[in-house]
Amino acid sequence: MEDLPALVELLMQAYRGLEEYGEESPEEARHYLKWLRRTCKEGFLVAEAEGQVVGLIAACPDWKDWELGRVLEIHEIAVAPAWQGKGVGRALLEEAYALGRACGMRLAALWVGERNLRARAWYQKLGFRAIGQWGEWVRMVAPIPSAKDE
Ligand SMILES: CC(C)(COP(=O)(O)OP(=O)(O)OC[C@H]1O[C@@H](n2cnc3c(N)ncnc32)[C@H](O)[C@@H]1OP(=O)(O)O)[C@@H](O)C(=O)NCCC(=O)NCCS
Repeated sequence: MEDLPALVELLMQAYRGLEEYGEESPEEARHYLKWLRRTCKEGFLVAEAEGQVVGLIAACPDWKDWELGRVLEIHEIAVAPAWQGKGVGRALLEEAYALGRACGMRLAALWVGERNLRARAWYQKLGFRAIGQWGEWVRMVAPIPSAKDE
């Protein structure tokens, strides 16, 4: 929780230009982050570099999806713009995969904004595929790689 102010700033920056999918204000971001922390517990992970908070992932390693069954649900992933493209997002995802594996999960799932083309391309590169859509949200899934494949 001591990272909360830095995470609010990170989230607001990461969604610049993607405001329709981000939080409306720092206050909203604070509430959202607190909800993620409560919901994800051990799946709420922060990446630090050079003494700063540079990324976060919030994932539930044992989430019940009404269609897919039990999955590793990635609720949020964001990397500070200055640190994007340096492997931070991948490292966070791999940590979440490890939690999913420990809970016996085989599938990771997430919702991404239809017009968030950059994130969609990123997920695709990392093995996710779209399986459906609900309004402007695209459902993507990926098999969780075995530890030796990472
Ligand atoms: C999506 C996001 C989390 C990716 O994190 P990142 O730290 O920039 O990604 P990484 O550096 O770990 O990328 C890993 C790989 O994907 C590649 N990659 C990066 N961006 C890519 C893109 N848009 N499309 C395809 N590949 C991409 C990298 O080159 C790297 O490949 P390599 O390992 O073969 O060199 C980050 O861009 C972000 O915070 N975006 C804004 C918030 C957001 O949209 N979150 C998703 C909400 S659902």
